[in-house]
Amino acid sequence: MEIKEFKSYNTMCQLVASNIRDCVKRYSNPVLGLATGSTPIGVYELLSKMRNTHFNNTITFNLDEYRGINHNHRQSYHYFMRKHLFQYHNFQKNHFPNQSNLHKYDTMIKNTGGIDIQILGIGTNGHIAFNEPGSSRHSATRIVDLTENTINDNSRFFDPLEPIPIQAFTMGMSSIMDAKKIYLMANGKHKKDILEQAMYGDITEDIPASFLQKHKNVEVLYCD
Ligand code: PGA
Repeated sequence: MEIKEFKSYNTMCQLVASNIRDCVKRYSNPVLGLATGSTPIGVYELLSKMRNTHFNNTITFNLDEYRGINHNHRQSYHYFMRKHLFQYHNFQKNHFPNQSNLHKYDTMIKNTGGIDIQILGIGTNGHIAFNEPGSSRHSATRIVDLTENTINDNSRFFDPLEPIPIQAFTMGMSSIMDAKKIYLMANGKHKKDILEQAMYGDITEDIPASFLQKHKNVEVLYCD
């Protein structure tokens, strides 16, 4: 397992964005797995500026969404995706896990032929999407309770008096591991420790990102 270190955040994002562009240009029905959070914003910024790349045939599956939050709330992942990417390109269809598609989400992904490129960030506790420590390698898309660590990490995005979501819908590890290509991105020194533990340590439910050691086509990208 190799962690590729980049000198700049922008160069790291360029690598991911150019591979997404190639995939979207080459495949007749590309399927992208998309992440939110601060890490992939640079990738979306680059994609949003690609005026000669057309996403009309592209289907997307987002990894997660908070439970109990309005889709117009500025911290909802629907809002995030509109702001950073979806407002700039027309896609065939954008999916998010929600209360009504929860039990179908993994089948929906399979029925498209599977995710061609999956973007992932990593939480400081080793979570992938909202697959918190303790999540099984074979977990399905489901509702999860967020850990205190994640709630604290997220609290910076909410007004002090606002309730912070404590549950979320998340794609499970199983569909993530089925993606044909994965880019795991980590930006910042505060991610280095957990990234190294996940890539070089034991494969364990305590660090769901460690399951990626078993994936056949994952690139692990880091910059500080
Ligand atoms: P970040 O979050 O990109 O905002 O660091 C990543 C994650 O928690 O999965």
